[in-house]
Amino acid sequence: MSELSERVAIVTGGASGIGAASARLLQDAGATVVVADIQEAKDGVGRFVTHDVTSEASWKALLADVLEREGRLDIVVNNAGVSGGTGNVETTTVEEWQRVQAINSEGVFLGCKYAIEGMKKTGPRKPECKGSIVNISSIAGLISGAGPLAYTASKGAVRLLTKSVALHCAEKKYAIRCNSVHPGGVDTAIFNPLWQAVGHEQGKAFIGARHPIGRMAEPPEVGEVVLWLASDRSSFVTGAEIVADGGITSGLMRRLPLAAP
Ligand SMILES: NC(=O)c1ccc[n+]([C@@H]2O[C@H](COP(=O)([O-])OP(=O)(O)OC[C@H]3O[C@@H](n4cnc5c(N)ncnc54)[C@H](O)[C@@H]3O)[C@@H](O)[C@H]2O)c1
Repeated sequence: MSELSERVAIVTGGASGIGAASARLLQDAGATVVVADIQEAKDGVGRFVTHDVTSEASWKALLADVLEREGRLDIVVNNAGVSGGTGNVETTTVEEWQRVQAINSEGVFLGCKYAIEGMKKTGPRKPECKGSIVNISSIAGLISGAGPLAYTASKGAVRLLTKSVALHCAEKKYAIRCNSVHPGGVDTAIFNPLWQAVGHEQGKAFIGARHPIGRMAEPPEVGEVVLWLASDRSSFVTGAEIVADGGITSGLMRRLPLAAP
C-alpha cells in the first residue's frame, strides 16, 4: 500500500507550477487528489474542480463536493497565489493591495477554516493518520524589500496565520498539523511578465544568480517539501516555517575583499 493511499488531498492553484508539481507528487504517493483552480488543469492529475480561493461560497461548495465525491478530507495545500506586481508603498493602489491580500492571504485563511471543518467532519482514517494543512508562503514572508509591498505583506500574513492555526488545532486536540513553506525563486508562470520582458533563459539566470545555490528551483523541488509536510513523516512538525530557497535567506554572500583562506 502506498504511503498516502487512504488520504484525500485538495491542492489550490494546482493547475500550474508548484501546485501542479505538489498534486502530482501527492498522487504518486497514493493520495486521491482534487485540483482546485480558477484555470483548468492541463496535465490531468487528480480530479479538477473550478474554485476561487477568494470566495467563501466557492470554499463551501468545494468542501461539500469533496466530502460527497471523495468521502473525506486529510490534506489541504493552500498554494494558489499571484505576484501582484512590483509596487512599493507609494505606488501600490488600495485596489491592488486588496486584490493581492484577497487571494494570497484571505484565500489561505478560508482554506484553513474549511480544511479544519472537513477534517473534523471525517476524522482521522486511523489513529496514526493525521490531517495536514500546508500553506505556501514565500521568502517574501520572511524578508522584505522595498517592493513588491502587497505580495510581501500577504506572505508575511500567511506565515503567522499558519502558526495561529497550528496552535489552535493543538489546543483543541485536533489531529491536524499546519505548516508554511517558504520557497525562493521557482521557475513557474508567476514570472511570466519577466519572461516576456527579458526572455525565459535570461530571466531565469538573473533570478538564479541571486540565490547562493546559483539557480532557480524547479517546481518538484518545492513539491517534495509539500509532500513531506502532508505525510506522517513530519508528524511532530506543526507551526513550522520550512524554507526551500537555495540559501537566499541564510545571510549575505559577499566576503570582504580579502584573500580567502
Ligand atoms: N514561483 C516562485 O518563485 C514562488 C516563490 C515563493 C512562493 N511562491 C508561491 O507559490 C504559490 C504557487 O505559485 P506558482 O509559482 O506555482 O505560480 P503559478 O502562477 O504557476 O500558479 C499559481 C496558480 O494559482 C492559481 N490561482 C490564482 N488565483 C487563484 C484564485 N483566486 N483561486 C484559485 N486559484 C488561483 C492560478 O490559476 C495558477 O494555476 C503562490 O502562492 C506563490 O506566491 C512562488
